[in-house]
Amino acid sequence: MDKTIAKNQGVDAMNIINDFDAELVINSPGRINLIGEHTDYNNGFVMPTAVEKSIKFYLKRNDTPSSCFINSLSFNTSFEHDIKNPILDGPEWTRYIVGVIEEIKKLGHTVQGFDCLMTSNLPMGAGISSSAALECGLATGLNELFDLGLSKLEIVKLSQRAEHNYVGTLCGIMDQYASVMSKDGYILKLDCRSIEHEFIPFDIAPYTLLLLNTNVEHSLASSEYNTRRDECARGVAVLRKKFPEIESLRDATLEHIEACKDDMSITLYNRCTYIVEENLRVEEAGNALKKGDLEKFGQLMYESHEGLQHKYKVSCPELDFLTDFSKNHQDILGCRMMGGGFGGCTINLIHQDAMEDYIARATKAYKEKFNIDLTAFTTTPANGTTIL
Ligand code: GLA
Repeated sequence: MDKTIAKNQGVDAMNIINDFDAELVINSPGRINLIGEHTDYNNGFVMPTAVEKSIKFYLKRNDTPSSCFINSLSFNTSFEHDIKNPILDGPEWTRYIVGVIEEIKKLGHTVQGFDCLMTSNLPMGAGISSSAALECGLATGLNELFDLGLSKLEIVKLSQRAEHNYVGTLCGIMDQYASVMSKDGYILKLDCRSIEHEFIPFDIAPYTLLLLNTNVEHSLASSEYNTRRDECARGVAVLRKKFPEIESLRDATLEHIEACKDDMSITLYNRCTYIVEENLRVEEAGNALKKGDLEKFGQLMYESHEGLQHKYKVSCPELDFLTDFSKNHQDILGCRMMGGGFGGCTINLIHQDAMEDYIARATKAYKEKFNIDLTAFTTTPANGTTIL
């Protein structure tokens, strides 16, 4: 095993990678989501795509039955793992690794000892799903390295289960699906009930997508996420008393919810209403994108944020500030929080000529308000997980 790598953190990463002599290199991207937030676990619609920022995995078998050595060069940390004796008391990132290996084992496959180097330019906690990139990249790598014969969809689903069972976030399928299935130049419109997607060409020049990272990650994120799932399930239980055909909020209409308004708390009413409205918005947004109607698309982004802020309550002051700030700039057609919420990025649909000036203004205003430095980066749709 290349244990020396861990001791050589001062050495240039490129040299370490060259010396490592990988059998296989995988590029596993993060994702953005244009619209359709918290709809995935309600069997609804989402519009994500992979981005150019990614985790790279350098992998090789080490000819041991079960010893693994995983080294993250970017985060200067490493982890040893025995496949036969999984231990889950390490830092959170190691749970994703153990989770993926365990979920592969549960499918009846055998994974043997391997060594892995990782480099990443994906910011963590920014709502662009470094976790899905980690899970899906490793699963794709092990599938290839040990010739397991897993399909892309099996990789997506086992990665999602790894997060449920070994990290404890009951995430939907969007992040893993986008990380694996995306195509350069297109947005995915995914139906999370049928798990079928449509590729919509993404040609928005002279506009572009700008991510502004609040650089905050409020601790509520994972507990409130699971609470939202539970609230949606409770909403469905109320709706089903009158409308037994409703299996998930995907099947509900605003009329159904109105008819049951007196039977649910205002909180459940707001949560259910948001999900139904957001699904309708994704449909409209897909049509607007196909027609090149970016103004409409932007307006739907603002409405999505409004719902996430007031009805679904997963935003935070930093995200709300940036979204409100954008409204005073006519070169921005739309802006919303992105991902699970409680921190991370806003996604902005902005005219490319206005970008530099806007980043400077937003950075200054954000610093004055919160005394936090903003990070800005543009994104375009990129390919999903790739074997290089
Ligand atoms: C996180 C989850 C996704 C999805 C989003 C919210 O990113 O992992 O499954 O629910 O939040 O849209």
